[in-house]
Amino acid sequence: MNQLDMEIIFNKKKKEKPSSQTLEFGKVFTDHMFIMDYTRGQGWHDPRIIPYQPLSLDPSAMIFHYGQSVFEGMKAYLTQDKDIVLFRPEKNFQRLNKSNDRLCIPQLDVDFVLEALKKLIKVDNEWVPEAPGTSLYIRPFVISTEPYLGVAPSDSYKFIIIMSPVGSYYKEGIHPVKIAVETEFTRAVSGGTGEAKTGGNYASSLKAQEVSESLGYSQVLWLDGVEKKYVEEVGSMNVFFKINGEIITPELNGSILQGVTRTSIIELLNHWNIPVAERKISMAEIREAYHEGKLEEAFGTGTAAVISPIGEFLWNDEKMVINNGLTGEISKKLYDSLTGIQNGTEPDLLGWITKVLTAESVK
Ligand code: COI
Repeated sequence: MNQLDMEIIFNKKKKEKPSSQTLEFGKVFTDHMFIMDYTRGQGWHDPRIIPYQPLSLDPSAMIFHYGQSVFEGMKAYLTQDKDIVLFRPEKNFQRLNKSNDRLCIPQLDVDFVLEALKKLIKVDNEWVPEAPGTSLYIRPFVISTEPYLGVAPSDSYKFIIIMSPVGSYYKEGIHPVKIAVETEFTRAVSGGTGEAKTGGNYASSLKAQEVSESLGYSQVLWLDGVEKKYVEEVGSMNVFFKINGEIITPELNGSILQGVTRTSIIELLNHWNIPVAERKISMAEIREAYHEGKLEEAFGTGTAAVISPIGEFLWNDEKMVINNGLTGEISKKLYDSLTGIQNGTEPDLLGWITKVLTAESVK
């Protein structure tokens, strides 16, 4: 299958674009979407860009019953030179294939879907917002579509890409968020699907999220599912700590999502000669560091969340306020550098940027 096989049906009814100053996260969608089908025996076929529209699926489609689905989150940015760029997009599509493997969904051709995404962005290029802190969020996903109620991998799928101009994921914007440490519910255990980006992981997190919000916290920090001792991740981001000058993040253990932003932050810190310890870290260690005045910073990383400073943890009724609830120095430096690389105000020293459109070609 190559790019030339792709059909494009343009949307005749273009939507009004929201002001880029007031964008929220994931509420409005662009004029077009990419879609292609998979049928066992035939493979992936019929790639096409079509007007953004509802899907028509059989009520017995397997996605509705057993949740066999995967997704990704990535972003396109408008640089200061008005080019449109992507950040390490191949990493997201490689991870999508890892998730596919875990969920028994057929593999995608990474080069092909990246070309398809570039084409979709070109069609909807006017939707990439320009206000600082905004971007075009990209949601590729696969759903199982076979009409069948037996528990088995589906024989048919749809791969779809939709796009949404977004502002900050958290209502706090770039200000520190408050996070409640989850002591009752479990997100994932070793051998489960914690490492895959699949809807079920997020569905099972909602209850804890609801409780934490009722207490005034933005999200929960998940602990390991066995001992409820070691830190894993926050609902929509990986987590880092600065303790007594050392940067620490939980090691990948099969139940933590391998974030593209997480990897990039480790690489960026290493590039600055700041070592990062990837190891087990317990809440008890964090509490002790807090009481000794050594818990200097905490922050989350994610495509949607970018770099999100954490101003407070709640753990078993104890509130730990970090850096007086203010953004720490390393969190700020990482946020500025990462967004600078993405917006073209900082050089792309590590080769992370893929150009989709140049300012000249858009005119
Ligand atoms: C992302 O950071 O893109 C994610 O997929 C998190 C999402 C659940 C909002």
